Amino acid sequence: MKTTISQVHKYVDQEVKIGAWIANKRSSGKIAFLQLRDGTGFIQGVVVKEDVAEELFQTAKSITQESSVYVTGVVQKDERSPLGYELLVKGIEVLHQSVDYPITPKEHGTEFLMDHRHLWLRSRRQHAVMKIRNEIIRATYEFFNEQGFAKVDPPILTGSAPEGTTELFATKYFDEDAFLSQSGQLYMEASAMALGKVFSFGPTFRAEKSKTRRHLIEFWMIEPEMAFVEFEENLEVQEQYVSYIVQSVLKNCTIELKTLGRDTSKLENIKAPFPRISYDDAIKFLNEKGFDDIKWGDDFGAPHETAIAEHYEKPVFITKYPTSLKPFYMQPDAEREEVVLCADLIAPEGYGEIIGGSERIHDYDLLKQRIEEHKLPLESYQWYLDLRKYGSVPHSGFGLGLERTVAWISGVEHVRESIPFPRLLNRLYP
Ligand code: 4AD
Ligand code: MG
Repeated sequence: MKTTISQVHKYVDQEVKIGAWIANKRSSGKIAFLQLRDGTGFIQGVVVKEDVAEELFQTAKSITQESSVYVTGVVQKDERSPLGYELLVKGIEVLHQSVDYPITPKEHGTEFLMDHRHLWLRSRRQHAVMKIRNEIIRATYEFFNEQGFAKVDPPILTGSAPEGTTELFATKYFDEDAFLSQSGQLYMEASAMALGKVFSFGPTFRAEKSKTRRHLIEFWMIEPEMAFVEFEENLEVQEQYVSYIVQSVLKNCTIELKTLGRDTSKLENIKAPFPRISYDDAIKFLNEKGFDDIKWGDDFGAPHETAIAEHYEKPVFITKYPTSLKPFYMQPDAEREEVVLCADLIAPEGYGEIIGGSERIHDYDLLKQRIEEHKLPLESYQWYLDLRKYGSVPHSGFGLGLERTVAWISGVEHVRESIPFPRLLNRLYP
């Protein structure tokens, strides 16, 4: 029976055939252990010299790392392996002999691994992170579908800049100037006025000269937008959503979390509601903690966010930032005009901001004034202003950065490991 590693549990004590690669190998005079991988998982193949033809044992002993094979064998229960099964090998058909695979079981430096990202992806840890990423994407679609959201795809080539003009990737659109999307939000607002509750999932580009463990030049964002939803209700959707994806990964990625050595007790805790702290109180908290470099009106740096996050076991919302720190479209607090109805969600364990969101300005005149104050070209935003002209409603939304979320849930240090082919300040290869 031809099957895959993830399905071997259905064939205990039966013979199966699997297409696989040799991830690693260990052998002695009497026995060879092959670490087999097929994309669905990893399984150990055992070749016992006494039980097989001499030719087969020699093949197993001499086969090189990352050679591709069809392997046949009998599935056996094995309590010690993460998968719970191993394969008693009866035959190996070599499809392709790999020569001098560059990533050996010894330690390699990060730059070397990044130069070989196209191969590094095959490793056990990288495989686990990509599976967790996939589970988060799957759970995202499931969550928003269950909650009655429609998926809408905003354009990638745009003429507008939702998050400020300093980090745009400019390109030519025939004779016009265009930018790669830095957020689909403005288009999602238009879509919410047509479909009520919408979400997008797509690539985002930021020409940010940041070289930190949290920054990518190209990353993927999930952006829900909801008509008739106000500030506090927006936070409730966010905490429900984040709890949902964390619990889905815990349920469906047990092997991957084990492979990564993730402390899952920290993730089990992640259930709505999440704590909220106002920007004002966050500044006071930091000053009391001894950060005297920060005062009201300043933005938080990574050490500030980490200090705040460490105070809580769950992600924490920092709410109502000063208007001057945030983009033009955020709704002011009716009681305090100097702050806006926004929140950043800060992940635990030093992973930083995973969500930025807000209620949006729904008054035509105020929005127009803000566009002018921010020196944005009015003609590019006429369509966006139209949304405030024809049946304007209170509405809110947010953007979750996928890679930061994957890094946090997987427990990997740097976002470069949470996207298949990271685009970094000095890296466009591979
Ligand atoms: O806070 P940001 O810039 O918010 C927006 O773009 C809004 N328009 C979203 C919305 O309301 N629809 O980005 C949202 C999230 C951040 O919290 C972070 O998780 C991620 O996107 N992010 C990055 N991730 C990796 N590398 C970067 N350079 C990132 N910049 C933002
Ligand atoms: Mg932000």
